[in-house]
Amino acid sequence: MTAKSNEVFFGKKKQWSEIKDNLLRCYLSPYMNKILAHGGPVRYVDCFAGPGRFQDGRDGSPLIAVKEIREAVGRSHASSKDVKLYFIEKEHAAELAEVLGRDPLIGEVISGSFENEILPLAKRLQNSNIFCYIDPFGVKVLDSKLLEEFQRLRFNTVEMLINFNSFGFFRWACAHEHIQIDKETNEEFSDFDDDSDQVVDATEESLNRILGTSEWKETIARYNREKSRNRFAGREAVDEIAFLYWRFLKDRFKYVLSIKISVKQSGKAEYHMFFVTRHEDGAILMGDSMGKREGQMQNIREGGQPTLFDVEPEENNPYDVIDHVLEDLRKKGRSRIHLKEFEAIAYTYMTKFIPETDLKKYLKTLEDVGRIKVDRYPETTPNTGRKSGFWEEGRGKSLWIIP
Ligand SMILES: C[S@@+](CC[C@H](N)C(=O)[O-])C[C@H]1O[C@@H](n2cnc3c(N)ncnc32)[C@H](O)[C@@H]1O
Repeated sequence: MTAKSNEVFFGKKKQWSEIKDNLLRCYLSPYMNKILAHGGPVRYVDCFAGPGRFQDGRDGSPLIAVKEIREAVGRSHASSKDVKLYFIEKEHAAELAEVLGRDPLIGEVISGSFENEILPLAKRLQNSNIFCYIDPFGVKVLDSKLLEEFQRLRFNTVEMLINFNSFGFFRWACAHEHIQIDKETNEEFSDFDDDSDQVVDATEESLNRILGTSEWKETIARYNREKSRNRFAGREAVDEIAFLYWRFLKDRFKYVLSIKISVKQSGKAEYHMFFVTRHEDGAILMGDSMGKREGQMQNIREGGQPTLFDVEPEENNPYDVIDHVLEDLRKKGRSRIHLKEFEAIAYTYMTKFIPETDLKKYLKTLEDVGRIKVDRYPETTPNTGRKSGFWEEGRGKSLWIIP
């Protein structure tokens, strides 16, 4: 990022930046509750931290995390509360350290680059529950080799929230293949915090290393063939790039959730946020947070007014995804599945999210009309002796969906 664009980014927070912040904010508190209840140290790492505060006075991701985590730690009744936050920042580390001040929660502010600092830091933080927030300007630094090295380390749990600039990758790939991007696509994505300097030094190897595959070449070639007759060709190619990244992550983590962040009237994506975890609880908490962000984005896009034209393409319907997951389980001969596992899988395949309450409401409807059966333990409520009808698991309750 040039010094100039850095200044633009941290001048006034944009609306889509707030969506990203809320995604993080709403996840951190329930995440901390869960992890602290299970015990074990928590290490939060903001890998592209920024200066901590925007010039318009709004909190940047470091202050958001410190505030959320401080509150969650204060509320928790856990016997051990070993929690530390770490920050990596290449250009604003001194400013950030000043903004954060002296706080017992702060582990360290590291002045340096993610590429050089993340592995040595992660080695020191082994055997903890680690959460990495990865919010770069472009995609250049998202090197799959780093992730592979990271995966060799030992942690109790690993969670990552990644801002993936899918259009940045697309633009970079087009430059490499000497393909001109059509005017509409360029305008569609014009509002970017991208590092256009990067476009110059793209090599095939560096592009392959981001997605862990060279299949992006086919995507770009298809875009080039179709761009003159299909005005959505650019948007489709950007979505396909995001899918390739999802698949790359899915090969490495059990649950991978990806949401399009978009506050434009047209519904066109600004970027994609990815979340990875190996734990059902993490996937459900983030899926729920993503579901709530969809509503927020919709409100911004329509100024709070629903419109006649607000029709989603069918493949984006989250309820269809739930039906497909059930169908898939039937085909695989799966006799029953825990509610939590089902929810985590459903969120992994959604491209448009719904809050957890809506997901459960839909499952309840399916039970009511007899499309699924549900086994509950305990089968009856201890107080009344009536048949149980709960939709939750934990604290002595279990629920299996029979697809
Ligand atoms: C999108 S901003 C982060 C914004 C921050 N997450 C927030 O919400 O306040 C990206 C930050 O990464 C920093 N940066 C750029 N290249 C970096 C690198 N290779 N390693 C670490 N930080 C880098 C930039 O100086 C910038 O502050």
